[in-house]
Amino acid sequence: MDKITRRNALKAGGALGVLGAVSVAAPAQAQTLWTWSAKGSVAGAGEGADPRWVWDPEADPLLASVIDRGDVPAVNELLRTWTKNGQALPAGLPADVKEFMEQARQLPSWADQNKLATAFRFNQKRGLYLGVLYGLASGMMSTVIPHEARAVYYSKGGADMKDRISKTAKLGYDIGTENAFGPDGEMIVTAVKTRMVHAAVRHLLPQSPNWTANADQTVPISQRDMMVTWHSLPTTVMQKLTAWKVPIPADESDAFLHSWQLGAHMLGIKDEYIPNSWDEANSQAKQVLDPVLAPTDEGINLANILLNLGSSVDGGIVTPHILGAFTRFMLGDQIAGWLQIPKEPVWDPLLNTAWGPFVAVREGLLPFPLAPAAYWTFDEFLRQAALLFLSEAKPISIEIPVANRPF
Ligand code: HEM
Repeated sequence: MDKITRRNALKAGGALGVLGAVSVAAPAQAQTLWTWSAKGSVAGAGEGADPRWVWDPEADPLLASVIDRGDVPAVNELLRTWTKNGQALPAGLPADVKEFMEQARQLPSWADQNKLATAFRFNQKRGLYLGVLYGLASGMMSTVIPHEARAVYYSKGGADMKDRISKTAKLGYDIGTENAFGPDGEMIVTAVKTRMVHAAVRHLLPQSPNWTANADQTVPISQRDMMVTWHSLPTTVMQKLTAWKVPIPADESDAFLHSWQLGAHMLGIKDEYIPNSWDEANSQAKQVLDPVLAPTDEGINLANILLNLGSSVDGGIVTPHILGAFTRFMLGDQIAGWLQIPKEPVWDPLLNTAWGPFVAVREGLLPFPLAPAAYWTFDEFLRQAALLFLSEAKPISIEIPVANRPF
């Protein structure tokens, strides 16, 4: 197969975009037509272009140039010292990089400091659930999102999943801290660096002999892909908390959404694609996330690595068995089957019968534990899993890659 250059890939993308707009019969596993209205977005209006064929026009040409002219090592070294949102950019950055970053670090006019303060309160109160949900619901779901699984598997980070998870966990951690988007927080830094990493991947991955473009995607990490992944994070997390009947005041739920809307914006997602409410988020997720979920060899491999991460931490509770059972409990039998997660004769029924009462007791909604032994096991599990996934966010530097995964 001919190597796909970025330019002809983008051209093909444009052409396919036009075809998409006139409704071509969908090949197997192709994505659905884009009918979600920008009226439900934080922008309130938009062109209506299918985000499958939109990437990051500001960051992509810049990172392609930085890679091609050999500036990445110097830029990475300088960026290692840039850790706080309020910090000036390091001196010595190439002028075009500096110009982009100064622009990219600006919060949009709709950022609401009061909501962000409430979002922090929510994260504090719900940190234990969030750790498990980001790690097992969102993290495992990412392995059945084919575009993401393949991109992760064949990019540089795919060779060292523990390191990669640490970096991704940093984002989940940073967004939940006090002043996440304030001068002493780190979320803006993390998001801008990640935006640059994604742009680098868009340049590098199409050059990998292992990654192939197709009618469904010509260049990785489209705006649509980013929204799909976004839904595997806050939308899925909120759906689970709601299903578990965790009481969440409306202002906290709204604030949590706000922090992730802002996160999306800072990652380079256009406001016209970011849902303005949970209802809109759920409806967009139904259109873009649910239909794409499918197994791939790459995703199965990644899921297996994720499930075995626990083996190196705490003995006893956080084992592949309980992580697998929890994945099945949260994502269902079909996804667990796709990921070849074995059934767990003890843990599966226990989660099915005792998790609901456990949450109810924990939240003070039920006066007496119905399953006291399971209660402590689950509570300990929450703690260990939160530790496993969020404590991975140790001081770590998100770096621009210069190559794909070596095989
Ligand atoms: C890198 C988060 C969407 C593929 C990263 C990193 C973070 C992150 C924090 C830096 C970690 C690292 O360098 O390893 C997110 C978030 C997303 C999102 C919050 C959406 C809301 C996507 C999508 C794809 C993707 C949709 C693919 C379809 C990658 C790849 C890397 C990366 C391949 C680079 C790994 C490497 O260094 O080789 N992402 N991401 N991401 N992301 Fe994303």
